[in-house]
Amino acid sequence: MTPNEHARLAGQASQILRENDRGAYTVPTKGLYPFQWNWDSCLTALGFAAFDEDRAWREMETLFAHQWPDGMVPHIVFHQEDEGYFPGPDVWRTGRPVPTSGITQPAVAGFTARRIYERSKDKAANAARVRALVEKIDRWHAFLCSARDPRGEGLVAIIHPWESGRDNAIDWDEPFQRVPGEGIAPYRRRDVDHADPAHRPTKEQYDRYLWLLEHFRRHDWNNGVLHDLSPFRVVDPGFNAILIRSCTDLAALADELGAADIARANRARAEKGLAALERLWSERHGQYLCLDRTTDGLIDSPSVGGLIAVFAAIPEARAGAIGARIMEIAKRCRYVVPSHDPADSRFDAKRYWRGPAWLIVNYLVSDGLAAAGMDAVAETIRASSLQLIEKGGFAEYYDPLTGEPCGGGQFTWTAAMVLEFLRGGEARALAPV
Ligand code: GLC
Repeated sequence: MTPNEHARLAGQASQILRENDRGAYTVPTKGLYPFQWNWDSCLTALGFAAFDEDRAWREMETLFAHQWPDGMVPHIVFHQEDEGYFPGPDVWRTGRPVPTSGITQPAVAGFTARRIYERSKDKAANAARVRALVEKIDRWHAFLCSARDPRGEGLVAIIHPWESGRDNAIDWDEPFQRVPGEGIAPYRRRDVDHADPAHRPTKEQYDRYLWLLEHFRRHDWNNGVLHDLSPFRVVDPGFNAILIRSCTDLAALADELGAADIARANRARAEKGLAALERLWSERHGQYLCLDRTTDGLIDSPSVGGLIAVFAAIPEARAGAIGARIMEIAKRCRYVVPSHDPADSRFDAKRYWRGPAWLIVNYLVSDGLAAAGMDAVAETIRASSLQLIEKGGFAEYYDPLTGEPCGGGQFTWTAAMVLEFLRGGEARALAPV
């Protein structure tokens, strides 16, 4: 890439962040997603940090201003009314002062906070606000490790597919059979007004998403009981690896800011999580798989959730196997990393999380691979990501076989990840746990 091309892409990416900026938070894209989303915001903060560090911290602070008293950080904050999205605040009815959804999303904040602080141009000036954020992130981790791991197994479960951030992944098909789809209030989807229905989750899936929502609402969003009352309880290696990595990073950040207790607690969480993650390894697939907590069996679905595991400091041999698997997958897919194994008959190149490639996933996986010393694989992913952008613009996600852009356009976190990839990746060892 020439310096001119580099500058052009960086300029376009920053422009998208500015266009989707609503002052103190950013919408993922106009139309399809008109509110603040949890992990979108944290990853978007990385993008802002490239040209406006204060705005980066504000993005995360706004999200954490809506943390629940029990420590949960909701997956959506409905800052203003918008008819264009379903299910809106009138469906969730969580009773929060500013309406929010009632479930969470991957806890990537510990990682992004550390990364932004590491690069901070004036650490002393930012220390107090970062310290306040560190305390809130710690409370979120504590929430996840108790409410979503009530028996202290070391791994947290998601209780709704939306919590994984991979809404309609093939991973959920089997456990979803236990979730009824009947008896829910009539509704009209809005996502299909903005995006091609053939690329979106199906009606059957939506019925079940809503059944779970209504079920949790009937129990007043009481996280003390929801885990055990949910017919859907899945341990996702991706969600857990992100949490583990965030615990490790939060510990390092807390140490730097003189919060020794927070550092200790998070190091212990990461250690316990890493040991427990082994339970999800599948020798047959050469990657991690999801575990159905209601049956205690692994789910036979080789998805990218099991590859995101490399974002945590997993054993070297596991990381090596994941790197090798991605290079195998690259023989079938022109653009990596697809969200599902293309060799599996259920792979669907255009349907959201059932095959397409997503830049945020590419970023997490390549960062983990680089930290594990697999720079060549990380570089393959980075190159693929930038090719997708050159070919199809800043889309929500891409068909990994053709590179066709899909879903919403001018997408915020895609732009933020481009700014990260343009920095050239970060082959840096993980702080020891
Ligand atoms: C979809 C994605 C989720 C993301 C949200 C907003 O629901 O599956 O990961 O946070 O859109 O971009």
